[in-house]
Amino acid sequence: MSDAIDFLRSRISGTPKVAVVLGSGLGGFAHELDEPTSIPYSDIPGWPASTAVGHAGKLVFGQIGGVETVVMAGRAHLYEGYTQQQVTFGVRTLAQFGIQAIIFTNAAGGINLSYSPGSLVLISDHINLQGSNPLVGPNDDALGPRFPDMSEAYSRAFRAAAREEAQRLGIELAEGVYAGLLGPTYETPAEIRYLRAIGADLVGMSTVGEVIVANHMGLRCLGISTVTNMAAGVTDAKINHEEVLEIGRAVRAKLTDLLKATIPRLAA
Ligand code: HPA
Repeated sequence: MSDAIDFLRSRISGTPKVAVVLGSGLGGFAHELDEPTSIPYSDIPGWPASTAVGHAGKLVFGQIGGVETVVMAGRAHLYEGYTQQQVTFGVRTLAQFGIQAIIFTNAAGGINLSYSPGSLVLISDHINLQGSNPLVGPNDDALGPRFPDMSEAYSRAFRAAAREEAQRLGIELAEGVYAGLLGPTYETPAEIRYLRAIGADLVGMSTVGEVIVANHMGLRCLGISTVTNMAAGVTDAKINHEEVLEIGRAVRAKLTDLLKATIPRLAA
């Protein structure tokens, strides 16, 4: 990780305050940064390439409303064969680089029947069903504690700020629990009934590991899901990745406005 940080220091002066991780079909937000400096992941020592369709694979440094911000356009997923260490490498590196707050976005299936494709949902909490945890193994006490508290994994204050900004902008913003699964299959209808029964409102294949390491390192987190489809069995429709990308793009304007308004609130 230190090679990656040395490399970024050689390219970037100053330290971004806020990081934004962009999910499937949401990469367009990178264009919103003022005075952008773009660095492909492939240039950064140790940074895993992101191979999923709809993921760009670059870091973009710049400003949003005058706030130094870095965007991770594209992320590595477990279903691509990456380890939890690789999946969380970017978040760990940016945390060590000095960011203070991080926003995770993702595409998710809607389990809660009050959602519909295109809904934006603030993540209030998560359920890790990936069968692994990035903190397994020896703990580096310099980074964080052996047994991190996860009782406010998604900052209450950040959620309140996002809700206020959404209301001010007239953007409907629901709130719910995100279940993180391994993938790459979408779920079966039986799995969705199970997830609903255990308290999940959303389902996806990312985010939980990254939020775990962010909490481990003391970063405050905000999570926003785009509901790209209703989860399996909720309707008769089959789920396909093209639809996930298309809806992601369709809500881009709404999500962009919300992110632009919320980022300055997190840097205060
Ligand atoms: N399930 C899991 N991950 C997803 C889905 C889904 O229905 N939609 C977008 N990402």
